[in-house]
Amino acid sequence: MQNLLLQPLKQRRQRASRHMRDLVAEIHVSHRQMIQPLFVAENLPARAEVPGIPGTHRDTPDSLLRQVEFDLKNGATKFLLFASPAAKSTREFDHSFLASQIAALKKQFGEDIWLVADVCLCASTAHGHCGILNDAMDHVVNPESAAALAEMAVDCAAAGADCVAPSDMMDGRVAAIRTALDHADLDCTAIMSYSAKFASAFYGPFRIAQDSAPDKKLKLQDRKTYQMDFRRTDDALICSLRDAEEGADILMVKPAVHYLDVLARLTTEIPLPFAAYYVSGEHAMVEAAAAQGLLDARAAHIENWHALRRAGARMIITYAARYAREWLREFYGE
Ligand code: PBG
Repeated sequence: MQNLLLQPLKQRRQRASRHMRDLVAEIHVSHRQMIQPLFVAENLPARAEVPGIPGTHRDTPDSLLRQVEFDLKNGATKFLLFASPAAKSTREFDHSFLASQIAALKKQFGEDIWLVADVCLCASTAHGHCGILNDAMDHVVNPESAAALAEMAVDCAAAGADCVAPSDMMDGRVAAIRTALDHADLDCTAIMSYSAKFASAFYGPFRIAQDSAPDKKLKLQDRKTYQMDFRRTDDALICSLRDAEEGADILMVKPAVHYLDVLARLTTEIPLPFAAYYVSGEHAMVEAAAAQGLLDARAAHIENWHALRRAGARMIITYAARYAREWLREFYGE
């Protein structure tokens, strides 16, 4: 080993051919470990493309089924569903629209798909925050919000979701959800916790798709009192350990591409599978640069997926999961 760095052309020989590069690769990206987000909205006159994310739509209930049919043909089998109900509220929430969409997908596609339902109140609240506010509307009340999220999770699981994914960032919601699911005899439903979710500027296109941006007239204008501060990674480790203890089956880092250090740290320290959420703004950046002719979108997404795997992610939530089988086949020369 002593002279490893001094041998001429050594590293060049390891890169010299497609075969050699395949042999020495440390990671592999597969469409089988990808999850495709889906958006469905109630009372939408027609499906509409999400700005900045070509190929991703806000669907109507009918177009949602057609989208998933198309996706299955293209090899995408895991989906993360976000539903936006027409009626918004501040306290009592009706999740029947979301439940009806889960039931419709499972009725049509059954075991062919693995369906995770996003559990958060931001698309249901009139003010756009992820939980229930106090009367002064300047604080998200944690215990009440966690209880409301547990009810939502039970509705999703009872409708047939394979997994529920709390993205609200309330403390203790994983325990509340696990207990509620077990009491309802839904012990097979898994929990994928957004355990390390940062208050980020990269959620822009998503909030348009979900109609879930916090109301700018409120004193509480952003999500910094419940989502994480990006100057700190200890919080991500503490909350991920806590969510693991509370019963999460899968943990998550979000955003992902800008948080590779967090992914690497957490996956080294915690032996649970991690999902990396390559979020809407990160995706849209690549598309916007490509639209200006500055880079190749497909090559850039493929490179970003590999970066996430290299940092330790098992699965990737990405808006291009539905293209992954085709793109990766070509990339790997299969
Ligand atoms: C809801 C939620 C958000 C995302 C997923 N679930 C946005 C937010 O916290 O405002 C973002 C996903 C993306 O940008 O792709 N709490």
